[in-house]
Amino acid sequence: MSPVSTQLTGAVLVITIDHPPVNALSHAVRAGIVQALEAAPANISAAVLQCAGRTFFSGADISEFGKPPQAPSLSEAIEALENAPFPVVAAIHGQALGGGLEIALGCDFRVMDAKARVGLPEVTLGLIPGAGGTQRLPRIAGMALALEMASQGKPISAAKALDSGIADAIAESDLAASALAFAKSKSRDDKRSTGARPNPETDASAVDHWRAHAAKRQRGQKAPLAAIDAVEASATLDIVSGLKRERELFLERMSDTQSAAMRHLFFAERKSAKLPGPRTEPLSLERAAVIGSGTMGVGIAASLLSAGLSVKLLDMSDQALQAGYNRIKTIFQNDVTKGRLSEAGCSEILGRLTATTQYSDLSDSDIVIEAVFEDIEIKHKVFAQLANVVGEHAVLATNTSYLDVDAIAERVANPERVLGLHFFSPAHIMRLLEVVRGKKISATVLASAMQLGKRMRKVAAVSGVCHGFIGNRMLSCYGREAGLMLLEGASPRQIDKALTDFGMPMGPFTMGDMAGLDIGYMNRQKLDPESFEQRAFLVHDRLVEMDRKGQKTGAGFYRYEKGDRTPLDDETLEDVLRAVRSEQGISLREFDDSEIVDRCMLALINEGAKILDEGIAWRGSDIDVVYANGYGFPRYRGGPMFYADTIGLDTVLAGIRANAARFGDRWWTASNLLIRLAESGERLSAYETQSGALS
Ligand code: COA
Repeated sequence: MSPVSTQLTGAVLVITIDHPPVNALSHAVRAGIVQALEAAPANISAAVLQCAGRTFFSGADISEFGKPPQAPSLSEAIEALENAPFPVVAAIHGQALGGGLEIALGCDFRVMDAKARVGLPEVTLGLIPGAGGTQRLPRIAGMALALEMASQGKPISAAKALDSGIADAIAESDLAASALAFAKSKSRDDKRSTGARPNPETDASAVDHWRAHAAKRQRGQKAPLAAIDAVEASATLDIVSGLKRERELFLERMSDTQSAAMRHLFFAERKSAKLPGPRTEPLSLERAAVIGSGTMGVGIAASLLSAGLSVKLLDMSDQALQAGYNRIKTIFQNDVTKGRLSEAGCSEILGRLTATTQYSDLSDSDIVIEAVFEDIEIKHKVFAQLANVVGEHAVLATNTSYLDVDAIAERVANPERVLGLHFFSPAHIMRLLEVVRGKKISATVLASAMQLGKRMRKVAAVSGVCHGFIGNRMLSCYGREAGLMLLEGASPRQIDKALTDFGMPMGPFTMGDMAGLDIGYMNRQKLDPESFEQRAFLVHDRLVEMDRKGQKTGAGFYRYEKGDRTPLDDETLEDVLRAVRSEQGISLREFDDSEIVDRCMLALINEGAKILDEGIAWRGSDIDVVYANGYGFPRYRGGPMFYADTIGLDTVLAGIRANAARFGDRWWTASNLLIRLAESGERLSAYETQSGALS
């Protein structure tokens, strides 16, 4: 059945598209629109184009990208709208994104629901608009706004759309009725195709501004600059040549790995939130408690409050609680200051927050998340106290970064309700949530955690239990190689720069200084010394013992001026490096940047493949989701597993084997999965283990 239906209301033809879930502009939709226009009764005065369901068109159908195109193309559908002998009114609710906005711009008028938004998010997929968005939008809204929307990808509100001429009217209540009334007020003489409008005025300063912005804030990404080039061309080229130029730039982006990588992440992020196997009904989690009002507890509480839950915050002292409460209040008040939240909204949120020092107050909790000191004995105590007061089915979560969730669950009655919820700091901002499933977790509890993640607008990925789970276990291998290269002769500056040039937001040594070198130091004290490469951290340890703990003490791998976070080179570090290298009898050598990147990346990839082979991660794509959202892995490289596929698993394997031959195989034993996939020609990022089903 066609997703497109029509109804004649007086002299207005209403064309309705119903293509769940989000009205993507798939082939059947495009064909249906063209057909509806062709079959329109000869005597109509105008038409309305509207969508059923939760949103107007959410864009081109991303799943059709990379496949042979099927006519009519989106551009052809838009051409049909522009060439129709009657004006067409787009009735926009939800979101008009990408191709959705392009189709709306192909219409003669746009009426928007007051809550609707319009945008060109193609750059977030490594693309630029390919069906006229970069040519028609500036003709309506001017160069400056078009440059911003096409290069930044952020949607704008209906109010802003009205202001800038994108929308012609806002419907305060019934959009369908408003759009129909609007269409009835138009006649064939009101036809005014966007493409026929004059060129926008050139705005050189806006072009320079967004180019500079893209170079700095979207470092390494090609799409934003291409989007700017395309919009800039709209000022000088006629519409036909402008559309042709846009098409060329679009096709260049479409065939580039950056877009494949970002499209991979788009689907990977939606997949990671889904559990394999039959759907399990989640629990209703409305009353939450958070134990510990430190930085993590505060961020977790704020996330839960934003998701609409009520939160009890527990700490040992009134003073600690007060400080935590104040910090949560500041988070929401900042949202008010920035116009993201109303005063009333802020009061409603804070009205759902209570503070207590008594475990007995948590008795009615549906879920408790502890965020106390990272020490297994302290965690055991907290869980023992909790088990005494909460209901026997309340979900109990630990926000640990490393500890054994199974060991924690073991001591609790009904261990199937215990899990790890590994938030990343600051927890109310960072999007990643690692959901750690213990051996005994029930499918219901896991499904409930995934749903909670979605409510908190996190990107959730499931990890099995191992030291550091998916993310930190891989990170330790990356950090190990960075530390070893430091001993072998590379400077922190060179290593950091090589990795930031690769696209990481920060190098490992700058990152260590920021997080505090003492944290890793304390963690290593608790580890079996045989379980990690001690040499890789000799310099780190020496620095901590000299009270150089990073930014907070004014020095670590770098030196910092008071109140300034710029890492400066430091002679003391040179002395420490010289001393440690000579104690280790290391003869220094030169590194080139590509060796630094390769070594760190190969270590990440190999460990990721082992994690997948062990069933700790269920999908290669889940690992990519973890790295892109929790560790700043450049989205345009798709995550470590996708990156491995782009360089080729044969090449990856050869690199790992070469490192094993050179540095020994203690840390460089190639993953068996990697060997198997390299042989079979399969992709690491598409690999899914068979061990997804829960017992
Ligand atoms: N093409 C194909 N599938 C799409 C799609 C598109 N443009 N937009 C969303 N979908 C799919 C998602 O993959 C998901 O599928 P699943 O249920 O099988 O996982 C489903 O539609 C729902 O999307 P989801 O993102 O989970 O819903 P949401 O309500 O949270 O968000 C949108 C809706 C439209 C805001 C969001 O999906 C989105 O941003 N889509 C992409 C928009 C875009 O970039 N368009 C330009 C394309 S060039």
